[in-house]
Amino acid sequence: MDHFVYRDGALWAEDCAVADIAARHGTPCYIYSRATLTRHFRAFDDALAGTDHLVCYAVKANSNLAVLQVLARLGAGFDIVSGGELARVLRAGGDPARVVFSGVGKTEEEMRAALQAGIYCFNVESEFELHTLDAIARSMNRRAPVALRVNPDVDAKTHPYIATGLKTNKFGVDIATAEQLYTQAARLAGIEIVGIASHIGSQLLEITPFLDALERVLALVDRLDARGIALRHIDVGGGLGVRYKDENPPLPQHWAQAIRPRLAGRRLRILAEPGRAIAGNAGILVTRVLGIKSTQAKTFAIVDAAMNDLLRPTLYQAWMDIVPVRVRSDVPVRTYDVVGPVCETGDWLGKDRPLAIAPGDWLAVRTAGAYGFVMASNYNTRPRAAEVMVDGAHAHLVRARETFEDLVRGESLLP
Ligand code: LLP
Repeated sequence: MDHFVYRDGALWAEDCAVADIAARHGTPCYIYSRATLTRHFRAFDDALAGTDHLVCYAVKANSNLAVLQVLARLGAGFDIVSGGELARVLRAGGDPARVVFSGVGKTEEEMRAALQAGIYCFNVESEFELHTLDAIARSMNRRAPVALRVNPDVDAKTHPYIATGLKTNKFGVDIATAEQLYTQAARLAGIEIVGIASHIGSQLLEITPFLDALERVLALVDRLDARGIALRHIDVGGGLGVRYKDENPPLPQHWAQAIRPRLAGRRLRILAEPGRAIAGNAGILVTRVLGIKSTQAKTFAIVDAAMNDLLRPTLYQAWMDIVPVRVRSDVPVRTYDVVGPVCETGDWLGKDRPLAIAPGDWLAVRTAGAYGFVMASNYNTRPRAAEVMVDGAHAHLVRARETFEDLVRGESLLP
């Protein structure tokens, strides 16, 4: 459930008319709902209540400072994958002691910054990373808290680009060799073993792959225990899907109900890293119809948002709902390809969409709060969109649209 609803034929974001926001801030424009973010974070937090846990929002899904601030105020932890994301979390008031650091290619500089900040845990993904981290921690007279991110080799049954838990993927440490790497880690003076992590993919629509992964990880936990390596936490990753069209993803509550019994009696703190399920339905992308163009084969609605603003449709052939900001009955419904101004045939937001629209109308792409703005680029020298956070009847501009000067900052002409 989200807080983008129609009232009298007009789309609202909480108690703000989307058309008013679009008129005031221009398009393309992302709009986020604070109430929806809050609701989704609480769904995870409540589902794990009564057991020691930490919900670490995956910052990569939407890293706008205001989004992070809303979640930090709710007591969220954060899953980061770069020094930049760490700096964002700190800037937004997030608690470094609730940060886990994932990623296959952490640089020495990033490791140092994270140690300095005092993060909760490094999710180490390889032997070389373990040794680099050990050396850096020792040089700083510290011990780095570490979980190995293991790759359990399960099929998450999702798009191949966002499946991460197969042994052919670059992620994590092969579960078969993890035991040996833990034994090595236990001997390193700069490393303190605190947990274990896995993440098998994104936009998962079934619970079974989560349980298959958990079973394999827990078997490893038992083997480690037998070797005297005791863990304090288990990080079950993120990946719970959302509804873009007619999918029926498990609710956080059902996901938690399935995993909790398997962890009962183990005295392991549970960490989770949801991104999309928190931010996805909490955002829309508003765009304006620049014009309509018919060819013999197709009718195109050319809009002012493009693949540089929202990459998911063309990158993953993702279907994202496109709805009018004002419903109209004075023009016929026709079938449109909704496309942007970028010079690529792959620049589309939706294909074969029945819409009743005219030039100048605003459209909203729904469920664009996760992996939307964060994947935007400046391709074709297009400024990145404005971002607005709605909070009840207030609409706050939380990122101004970029200007041409923003785009060329750092560039210089030859002497
Ligand atoms: N933890 C780790 C280690 C991850 O790699 C990811 C996502 C998450 C947590 C959060 O997963 P979520 O709960 O959001 O599914 N750009 C793609 C999604 C890439 C996901 C990458 N990793 C998309 O637009 O579908």
